[in-house]
Amino acid sequence: MCGIVGVVGKQPCIEILLDGLRRLEYRGYDSAGVATISGGEFTILRSAGKLSRLASLVAQKAPEGTVGIGHTRWATHGRPSEANAHPHRFRDTVVVHNGIIENYAALKRELQAQGHEFTSETDSEIIAHLVQRAMEREGDLVRAVRDALLELHGSFAVAVLDLRAPDRMVAARRMSPLVIGLGDGESYLASDVPALLQVTRRFQFLEDGDLALLTREGVSIHSVETMEAVSREVRTVSWTPAMAEKGGYKHFMLKEIHEQPRSVSDTLRPRLGLTRGEVVLDELGPVEQRLQALTRVTLLACGTSFHAGLVGRMLIEDLARLPCDVEVASEFRYRNPLVGSSHLVVAISQSGETADTIAAVQEARSKGATILSVCNVVDSTLARMADAVLYTYAGPEIGVASTKAFTCQMAVLALLAVWLGRRLGRLDADRAATLVQGLTELPVQMEKVLERNPHILEVARKHQRVRSMLYLGRNVSHPIALEGALKLKELSYVHAEGYPAGEMKHGPIALVDDSVPSLFVVPNGPTWEKTLSNMEEIRSRSGPVIAVLTEGNRQVADLAGDRFEIPSCLPELSPFLTVLPLQLFAYHVADLKGTDVDQPRNLAKSVTVE
Ligand code: M6R
Repeated sequence: MCGIVGVVGKQPCIEILLDGLRRLEYRGYDSAGVATISGGEFTILRSAGKLSRLASLVAQKAPEGTVGIGHTRWATHGRPSEANAHPHRFRDTVVVHNGIIENYAALKRELQAQGHEFTSETDSEIIAHLVQRAMEREGDLVRAVRDALLELHGSFAVAVLDLRAPDRMVAARRMSPLVIGLGDGESYLASDVPALLQVTRRFQFLEDGDLALLTREGVSIHSVETMEAVSREVRTVSWTPAMAEKGGYKHFMLKEIHEQPRSVSDTLRPRLGLTRGEVVLDELGPVEQRLQALTRVTLLACGTSFHAGLVGRMLIEDLARLPCDVEVASEFRYRNPLVGSSHLVVAISQSGETADTIAAVQEARSKGATILSVCNVVDSTLARMADAVLYTYAGPEIGVASTKAFTCQMAVLALLAVWLGRRLGRLDADRAATLVQGLTELPVQMEKVLERNPHILEVARKHQRVRSMLYLGRNVSHPIALEGALKLKELSYVHAEGYPAGEMKHGPIALVDDSVPSLFVVPNGPTWEKTLSNMEEIRSRSGPVIAVLTEGNRQVADLAGDRFEIPSCLPELSPFLTVLPLQLFAYHVADLKGTDVDQPRNLAKSVTVE
């Protein structure tokens, strides 16, 4: 997730670009850059690190020009560095890009064979090369950008400048946001509304497949596919800049919950091959070399990432038939663990900077294990320590409570389980194909669950004064019960316990009375019927029952006072759906109580101390 801003104006544009980037920094902040056109030449300034470093460069060099683009980056391909920062230039063409180009490696090879030289590790740079090549053929920037876009697979928002058409900017989107701002003799472009609120309140929101030509005279929008003109309504926005940064949501956490269909899709799609059921994890070369000697997988993580690991363990054992354990990272090194050179240790961490996970990985490495990191932050400590890295493409997670990183971690672990199963010859092609198909259906199903947010708010209202809650689930729903309880605790400061549903009768049932609701995570699957008796046991002690269930399951519905329904899905993949109502429920209870949802008391986003 990166931020783009662009101006075709009549006054010097550098301050508009910088101010816009400042307001987009929440979308990514590992490097930034600007390009302006003046006197038939580009001035390009780029810098690794926070925007303040780019601002110092701008202050020194004072770039001129009334046409320009800017970018703040959240690295996906290539570490955060000046060379990988946008804009990327090839001869007369300059490009900024947000998204992931899935076929960039093949396109890069093709361009290299034609003599093109590349200066970055990014997928984005190829767009400048493709546009430059097409421009030589077409001589028209709109047609050249369109030709280039037709070669790309994946998601993008792009903005292109070219010295051969210095008063024009061409932009396009496919599954990455882009808005047009309309000014007086000026046209603007940005990833998001807040970037432009200082210059306009009039916006057109581009849709997937739109291509826009920006000039001082105005903006024309076309369909990339047909090149026919399309009209997009002009809307006047009355949001404050703070509201706009959160995309109109009240909190970053709520925004991030709603981003999950997108982030899970971004994490999965580049890794799905063309053959039915094929998972392509090119990043795993070092693991593949040691695969035949592998006897055990150990997953290390803390907090929410640990809960993703619990789901991952079930998938790895089931699909790859490899013994797999999950360890709370803070405990690992203090028990002289049995780990060695035939073990794959997988560190799971959103931030990649969690001190306990880093220390556990050091312990495993010193004993000869192969280290794989699953991280959201490119080039973070855990990414650098590992033999191989699988990145989650969740984009920056600002809310302290982890939500979208969690579902992306589960997505990566599901891919890893299928990959291991196939490589080790323990997972048949048909089951792999069924699972991959199930994974690809998840984003749409997740949208459906999130659409039920108003009902979840109503249930939260009913239970907002609760003092204690139990979360119960079996099998893959047990980690989701733990995660639901953690979310409620950390956001609303309400006591909550997560347990395997079958364990309830061994002690926690003593807590139950009419003031302690029990939330059962009980989607269809091999164990839902077993859970019915646990629900009865709570009801017979006057305990209120809330259930997360598969739509149409009357038996579960009849035992629950409140219900959060999910669409039917593969049982192994139900955690992607069942966790969503629990995130929203915890969010609403906290918001109704008036706690600081994005920065709950006593917590930090990145726990860098032991
Ligand atoms: O960055 P990490 O994934 O390593 O962080 C691990 C935990 O600190 C984190 O998941 C924490 O539990 C969150 N507050 C959960 O919402």
